[in-house]
Amino acid sequence: MDINTFSSGGILLEHRQVLNNVGAQTGAPTRLDISRNSFPSDFIFGVASSAYQIEGGALEGGKGPCTWDTETSKPGRILDGSTANVACDSYHKYQADVDLIHNIGYDAYRFSIAWSRIYPEGVGERPNQEGLDYYNRLIDSLLKSGIKPFITLCHFDLPQALVDKFGGWHGSEIVPAFAAYAETCFKSFGDRVRHWITINEPTIDLAFNAGVSAAMEANEVTRYKAGHNMILAHAHAAKIYREKYQGSSDGVIGISLDIQWFEPLTDSPEDIEASETALAFRGGWFLDPFFRGEYPAAIRKTWGYSLPSFTPEESRIVKGSADFLGVNYYTAYYVTSKPCDGFSNEPAFPVTMPSSVYVGDTKNGVLIGAQTPTGLRACPDGLARLLLFLKSKYGNPLIYITENGYSEKRNPEMTLEESLQDGERTEFFRSHIRSLLEAHKNGVNVRGYFAWTLMDNFEWLWGYGFLFGICYVDFQNNQKRYLKESALWFKKFLQK
Ligand code: BGC
Repeated sequence: MDINTFSSGGILLEHRQVLNNVGAQTGAPTRLDISRNSFPSDFIFGVASSAYQIEGGALEGGKGPCTWDTETSKPGRILDGSTANVACDSYHKYQADVDLIHNIGYDAYRFSIAWSRIYPEGVGERPNQEGLDYYNRLIDSLLKSGIKPFITLCHFDLPQALVDKFGGWHGSEIVPAFAAYAETCFKSFGDRVRHWITINEPTIDLAFNAGVSAAMEANEVTRYKAGHNMILAHAHAAKIYREKYQGSSDGVIGISLDIQWFEPLTDSPEDIEASETALAFRGGWFLDPFFRGEYPAAIRKTWGYSLPSFTPEESRIVKGSADFLGVNYYTAYYVTSKPCDGFSNEPAFPVTMPSSVYVGDTKNGVLIGAQTPTGLRACPDGLARLLLFLKSKYGNPLIYITENGYSEKRNPEMTLEESLQDGERTEFFRSHIRSLLEAHKNGVNVRGYFAWTLMDNFEWLWGYGFLFGICYVDFQNNQKRYLKESALWFKKFLQK
């Protein structure tokens, strides 16, 4: 069977045959059996971060309060009671970040802009010059070191003023507000930045429920409305970029979605259909509008009139508005069509799956992937399978892996030396990049990979209790950064 043809079920079965040997090849943690030279020379390897998680300077430089400043001030909201008021202090130590990235040898850095640094109130006549200056310094420093900036315009942190005014992503007023903010960024940085990501992981609660009152928190109906506003906000920003700023440059604009792989529990047509439905509810919710101009039939069937519709004009603006798809990949699940032990159709996804979809993580007593400290299973094969699925389903779009990473639980008892030993993380990266290579060899149009994340940082509701960094940050000693074993592995991997 030709793996490039998508037919219901066929592609999923074929992936399994093509990729069956991937998992079997995971081995000794630090083995360097692949390198960047296994990929084309223009393939981009980078590392990612986000403004709120690293910058600190919460109320410096004219920054306005954001939704996550609100969340961290709510008693009991953050697991370890911490805030990100200082975090990694990148607002002052951005040069140390650039030096790390350069030292490891990455080609690119994905970071986000704090909207409330540019417009403290979310909207305004004039942007905050100190905010623009900060990002100008960062961009110039990256370019000086030969590192390409990939900018995310909104990574969960919305100006709180917009939530107070109209509910943030819940109000349709957000669409012109986001477009205006995006345009300011294109105008200010577009002469030096070629890669733009409008929104990070729009489908999850951390993005659209932060800063809102308990009464306004999204339910099954309102979250589709918030998602709709995000899709339109992306599309309007992309339209402005293309009409006024893309020009003859090779600049591109896309969006980063968190998508898991859903492996059918068996090869039965029902389980294969359940897998496709699960994928429609996760990625398809946004991807179908971008690549086909409308929501997936499976979501429409389940939610009927509660799901917003695109007017013909909106559909025209939305369809084709993503030059590339950013994929944030962390884990995979099994899926089946019938109730079965250990499987549920109300898993912890933001949206409830229909009654024909049951999700679990174990088959014949074996987990789909190694358990990681945050509870996500590491399933490298799932990355290649997901990429092949996206290729078949959406016409082989340009893809960047914009996040992929491994958590560890903070252990304050460990010495510095011990904290730098992260063999499991190293193995996580090695096996996932190997899977990525497999997908690339099978024709997936993937052109870049970003490790999550540059350094230990503020991990949202977990505070500093779970760490994803390839560099250790000594939060007690002036936020000094140290390379972990995984960073050293990347350094070797990236040597030309
Ligand atoms: C988010 C990051 C986060 C990471 C690990 C992703 O969902 O984009 O901000 O740190 O997952 O939890």
